[in-house]
Amino acid sequence: MEILLSDLHISPFREEKFKTQKLNPIEWLIQLFADLLKKKEEQVFVEMMKIARERDITLGIVNGDLMESSATERGIWKETDYKAARKVKRWLEKLLRIKILLNMGNHESGYNLPLSSDPKAGISLKSLRNFLRLTGRTELYHSFELEGFWIVFIPYLFTEDHAVDFDIEKEKANFLKKMAKDFQKNEKIVVFTHDPDSLDDPGLRHILLANREKIKLFFCGHYHSLVTLGFVKALIAIFNVPILFPYRWTLRLLLWYATSGNGVMVKKIEAYFQKRKNIPRLMRVLNVRVIPGPTGMFGMGGGFLTVNLETLEVKRF
Ligand SMILES: [Fe+2]
Repeated sequence: MEILLSDLHISPFREEKFKTQKLNPIEWLIQLFADLLKKKEEQVFVEMMKIARERDITLGIVNGDLMESSATERGIWKETDYKAARKVKRWLEKLLRIKILLNMGNHESGYNLPLSSDPKAGISLKSLRNFLRLTGRTELYHSFELEGFWIVFIPYLFTEDHAVDFDIEKEKANFLKKMAKDFQKNEKIVVFTHDPDSLDDPGLRHILLANREKIKLFFCGHYHSLVTLGFVKALIAIFNVPILFPYRWTLRLLLWYATSGNGVMVKKIEAYFQKRKNIPRLMRVLNVRVIPGPTGMFGMGGGFLTVNLETLEVKRF
């Protein structure tokens, strides 16, 4: 039995983290709810402690976004971020009395999403190296045996097309070569990916679909709850299904208002959801389950999971 966590978004840099970017209305709202839900978040951590003790759990997997760095869109890019992340990881291990394994989320690697406003936003060599230091690993590809299953971690890397200062396509190709070998050698595989949008990468998608019989469990994070997933699915449908075009105009108006009349940003957001038209189908075909963040989406659908690798039973708390 192990405990599955994701998107804890522990925030040691509450004030500093928005200095390098403009606080957009969505982030403003997220921040407001994060403050309002502090008590609820604490209760989820108490519940984690209780479940870990009661069930003698010794291992936890954080499927990305353990912590928000001092410049959120740059990941663990500074020495102070690395030290803070190390402290947060140790704190969590001590609190739950378990060993924590980390997958790389966008808040570890850095990210460049449509609403990113930091000119230095994105995945950088510094953030990758600091993530590896934090985990004690030497390469981004990470897989291991656990109770008869081969566990594979897919990092956030595959969601992005560009990196700040290295050839991301070369890094992805290198990763996929190792992953393909593992899938060839093993029959029972459990996959963790931080962001299900990564499934849009053609190379990654090909390996996963070709081996779907071998994948016994598949987990993602990033969406924080099934409520968010439903919301994102609705946006993808509105921006892709022709018959839903009246809603498209309503949504464009809302986005225009939310971005204070920034037409370029509205187009970028629309393109973002159009590009993701295959994600809901891929998640269904591959049976991808969302590991919730502690407070979910604005307090709805939060928590964590436990998995029993003998029975493959997944429990939600
Ligand atoms: Fe994320």
